Amino acid sequence: MKGVVLAAGKGTRLYPITKVVAKPLLPIANRMTLEYAFDRLKECGISEVCVVVGENEEQLRRALGDGSAFGLRLDYVRQPEAKGLAHAVGFAKDFVGGDDFVLYLGDAMYGDSLKPHVDRFKESGCANLNLVKPVDDPRRFGVANVDGERIVKLVEKPQNPESNLAMAGMYVFGPQIWDVLPGLQPSARGEYEITDAIQALIDRGETVLAGVYKGTWFDTGTLDSFLETTAHLLQGGNLIGEGSVVTGDVGPNVVIGPGAQVACSSISDSVVFPGARVDVAGKIHGCLLSGEVRVSSDLESVIRQGDQE
Ligand code: G1P
Repeated sequence: MKGVVLAAGKGTRLYPITKVVAKPLLPIANRMTLEYAFDRLKECGISEVCVVVGENEEQLRRALGDGSAFGLRLDYVRQPEAKGLAHAVGFAKDFVGGDDFVLYLGDAMYGDSLKPHVDRFKESGCANLNLVKPVDDPRRFGVANVDGERIVKLVEKPQNPESNLAMAGMYVFGPQIWDVLPGLQPSARGEYEITDAIQALIDRGETVLAGVYKGTWFDTGTLDSFLETTAHLLQGGNLIGEGSVVTGDVGPNVVIGPGAQVACSSISDSVVFPGARVDVAGKIHGCLLSGEVRVSSDLESVIRQGDQE
């Protein structure tokens, strides 16, 4: 079993911070986003992982290297244009060879182990197993209709969902996937959808299973979800980096990177990046701050990369 992590996205929803730090490297609590993915893959017994990169290739190679620092062997392939998840996974074909593999969306973070689902894939001998989770608003996701343990139909971001089971960003595939990728057509949003690839497996009569996931699941790609994930990890506590200086009340759920200097009346539910210089006359709440940020009022629910201004 190998691992394929999709990490080519530009992270536009976290601009401007992601213009400076690639999204997969953003620190969540005190670790890079992808380190959480690596842990979950290792737990499944996976030691060889291919990272699908984009324009962020150099930054990712520099930060992650050959993977030995994380107890893995890392390979990189480049997706030259962002044309969807099924397009991205196609570039990992040579790396995967004839093996089975876990496909992991780089900005997903899971509270629970994924191993039971990988084990079930292996035991069942199915072509594909997908993590699904009941959600309140399935319209933002790929949505699965199930019959018993099998997925019988998939629709990407339906207006009128027929079930509340969202595709939860982790997929286990056998080699059958490579047969269906070449036949895919772009969707209405112009992308080669992974849900269409899986639907093609279903249409060919392959066994496609749902793995219902019960734990916490975060997509860390927006300001709100990034801070929510951080708060979940910190549980109300704070992480104050070495050599940092903070004046003002701190907490809850605050991360101050090493060497940062922060002056404010109070800071809560926010992340200040390593080495940042932040000078805010009032309160800081719900912010991601980096570089040099100077503001003469409160600062709420914003992403600021001071050096860019
Ligand atoms: C992608 C998939 C979708 C899945 C979601 C999980 O959507 O296309 O099926 O439910 O990830 O996060 P995207 O986030 O690319 O819009």
